[in-house]
Amino acid sequence: MEEPVQVGPWAAEAFVDYERLLKIFGAKPLTDAEVSHLERLAGGSHLMLRRRVFYSHRDLDVFLSMYEAGYRCALYTGRGPSGSTHLGHILPWIFTRWLQERLGLDLFFQMTDDEKFLHEERLELSESNSYAYENALDLIALGFNREKTHIIIDTEDIGYLYSIAVRIAKKITYSVQKATFGFDDSTNVGLIFYPVLQMAVSFLPTELYGEETYVLIPAGIDQDPYWRIARDLARSLGYPKPSQIHNKLLPGLGPEGKMSSSKPETAVYTTDPPEVGARKIMRAFTGGQPTVEMQKRLGGNPDRCSVYKMYEMIFEDDDGRLRERYLSCRSGALLCGDCKAELASRVQRFLREFQEKRERARDYVEMYLLRTKFEAPKRR
Ligand code: TYM
Repeated sequence: MEEPVQVGPWAAEAFVDYERLLKIFGAKPLTDAEVSHLERLAGGSHLMLRRRVFYSHRDLDVFLSMYEAGYRCALYTGRGPSGSTHLGHILPWIFTRWLQERLGLDLFFQMTDDEKFLHEERLELSESNSYAYENALDLIALGFNREKTHIIIDTEDIGYLYSIAVRIAKKITYSVQKATFGFDDSTNVGLIFYPVLQMAVSFLPTELYGEETYVLIPAGIDQDPYWRIARDLARSLGYPKPSQIHNKLLPGLGPEGKMSSSKPETAVYTTDPPEVGARKIMRAFTGGQPTVEMQKRLGGNPDRCSVYKMYEMIFEDDDGRLRERYLSCRSGALLCGDCKAELASRVQRFLREFQEKRERARDYVEMYLLRTKFEAPKRR
């Protein structure tokens, strides 16, 4: 019997069989034609597309056609503010920012302080709410456009979502929620309702603009279950189906698992002092051999290496250099210590520069909040 797949909104492995996942989820692999179409509209390419870090989708082709035909379009993504932001979280945001800039689109960004309060035993609501503001600094530090980026904080902006949410909720049974999210009789009822709010944001732009708006959601594949239901219901509620483009998950720095807040020692946080970030990289688990002699003789395995993945998915833009790194790891010419040291210095520089921008962002958070720009939609 095949092993069950541990990927969903509240659990995920790192070196996942992504092809199998697609079959189970029923999403489509991104084709060369779709990538070229997006690159043509964007007027350039992004490493996460070229390398299929973003590797699958639902109706990306429809979204791109609608965009090209001049229909109103928007981006939507989000964050569950349960603590500090790590490099895995910002991976989809880096790409989303590129999409925003290249396609000139508004971004709706949901901070689910309710979700994390309901899910994490340890968290008070005041804590997840204040993390929403802290995590917003990370988003802003990435350079999102102030006029075009609209942050929604669930517990504060519920008036924007509630009338959409109840109309969704009425169409979803408990058995569908159980089957989709793995809930059982011990799950608190807040968490059983919560997914409806994450779905609701995909319909919000249509309400706010007062016209059909085609929404693209760039996010990790772990978030896909929400969109399966949202897409099934969209037309019956009078909205276009939201499209998705899914990223693979950045592995943590330990022997297994995605980079995750539940394993803080294997995650590099944007708030880690730069030298701490560098030290975490130097201690990372790699795909290398146990000894230098064996590494030289047998070579390493970059395909199972958290350090190589970090280069591939975020930190090495140059395809030629990445290829060289891959081959010299395989051949044993590159030793893990050297490979890590180079990444550590890039991560250290990244954190230093990022943290300066992050601090400056404190002055601007207000300007990114949805409520400072839009009235709540009228109830339909
Ligand atoms: P959260 O806070 O768990 O994750 C935020 C975003 O980061 C992605 N992600 C990763 N991507 C690559 N590598 C990793 N190791 C990694 N870990 C997390 C997630 O897929 C996500 O895109 N329920 C959501 C919040 C949310 C949301 C949304 C996310 C509300 N609306 C719309 C995406 C799109 C959550 O808790 O995300």
